[in-house]
Amino acid sequence: MSSKKLAEHGLEGVAGMDREHAVEMQIVRSLQKTLLAGDREAASELINELEDFTNAHFLAEQLLMRLHAYPAFEAHQQEHDQLIDQLTSLRQGIENDNDDPAVAVEALEQWLMTHIHTSDEDLAKFLKQADSDDESEQIASEARSRSRTD
Ligand SMILES: [Fe+2]
Ligand SMILES: [Fe+2]
Repeated sequence: MSSKKLAEHGLEGVAGMDREHAVEMQIVRSLQKTLLAGDREAASELINELEDFTNAHFLAEQLLMRLHAYPAFEAHQQEHDQLIDQLTSLRQGIENDNDDPAVAVEALEQWLMTHIHTSDEDLAKFLKQADSDDESEQIASEARSRSRTD
């Protein structure tokens, strides 16, 4: 992939991440509502949906990080792994009806918001920077070719 295409791909990636975060938070909030209403069946469907969606979202972010040689890839992936573990234990909690899952979802929401506003924001900044570096490089190269023809 050319550097211009790669930078554009990064920006598309940032827009995709934003859309997916909005969907992810929507599922978390629906899950909270069903748990508070005591609807275990709906909660169990929503936790499965959240797990599937989050797995796909994390994989997409991880691909983006690899493709753009993101320096903080490993630390970011570790946070994803921790969240997947948290989702698994939340699902088990809902299935086995043991602890108060509404409290666990609250903690999960907090964790997710923190991740989105720290690690994911850092990644988005990195991808946007890669795009503006590419633009500056393009302006410089156009200026160079103009000065050659003058
Ligand atoms: Fe994310
Ligand atoms: Fe992330």
